[in-house]
Amino acid sequence: MSESLAVYPGSFDPVTNGHLDLVERGIRIFNKLIVAVVNNPGKEPLFSLEERIDMLRETTRKYGHAVQVDSFDGLLVDYLVEKKAVAYIRGLRAVSDYEYEFEMAMTNRRLVPEVETVFFAPSEDFTFLRASTVKEVAKLGGNISSFVPPYVEQYLKEKFQKL
Ligand code: PNS
Repeated sequence: MSESLAVYPGSFDPVTNGHLDLVERGIRIFNKLIVAVVNNPGKEPLFSLEERIDMLRETTRKYGHAVQVDSFDGLLVDYLVEKKAVAYIRGLRAVSDYEYEFEMAMTNRRLVPEVETVFFAPSEDFTFLRASTVKEVAKLGGNISSFVPPYVEQYLKEKFQKL
């Protein structure tokens, strides 16, 4: 697979160590990975698009040109075609992820058959990790240092102090 470009789409509200584990796995297989934050005004995220992008840029800086952070509006498949991506990647943590992920993969394939969905098995350390749980633990004052990088931990602390 020479010069292959893949997209890692998601809400990243906020990026967790589980997402970053997937980024590392992605760049082992693809030459370039665009981490694409969905800009979905209908789905009220805790962090703004700009904040989510900033956290991702900071925490993926060490991968240099192999990882780019971007955002997209509208359909994922349209973004994949625009970027000439050969695939997009998703993590399958547990069987409970499967139904939604498979439905999304089949819908996207029907829309654009050329683009592949590639599922990664995350590190077993992160099979339980969800951004929503991290936010809840942070909101209630729990220790989230093993779930997110220090930069994101600081963002969460500041967010919940302000709320
Ligand atoms: O991190 P998430 O919230 O599980 O990511 C979901 C995401 C952003 C990948 C998905 O909602 C998406 O692709 N949204 C863009 C709109 C779209 O293409 N919808 C049809 C997908 S079947």
